[in-house]
Amino acid sequence: MPDLMLDQLVAGKPVRIEKDGKSICVTKVGDEVFAINDTCTHSDASLAEGDVTDFKIECWLHGAEFDLRTGQALSLPATQAVDVYTVKIDGNSVTVEI
Ligand code: FES
Repeated sequence: MPDLMLDQLVAGKPVRIEKDGKSICVTKVGDEVFAINDTCTHSDASLAEGDVTDFKIECWLHGAEFDLRTGQALSLPATQAVDVYTVKIDGNSVTVEI
């Protein structure tokens, strides 16, 4: 069963899903979909509530930015990358692989 439907995702508007006990932030950018661990590596904030610019997501709490493609922390106060998950798109079905 898919985790999400592609036509329900709005570009630049991340959503949080729960899968296998993990909270995952799923974001569509253009025609691509990215999945990263939802919890900021700086403190306990949901990245799905952050702002997306191009391939970057900004934590709403203290402003750290992460690359949606690699999970890399791009700006302080976060220094550690978030985990990245592979996303499979099949027609309208979006599945996050953990
Ligand atoms: S919790 Fe995300 S930057 Fe502080």
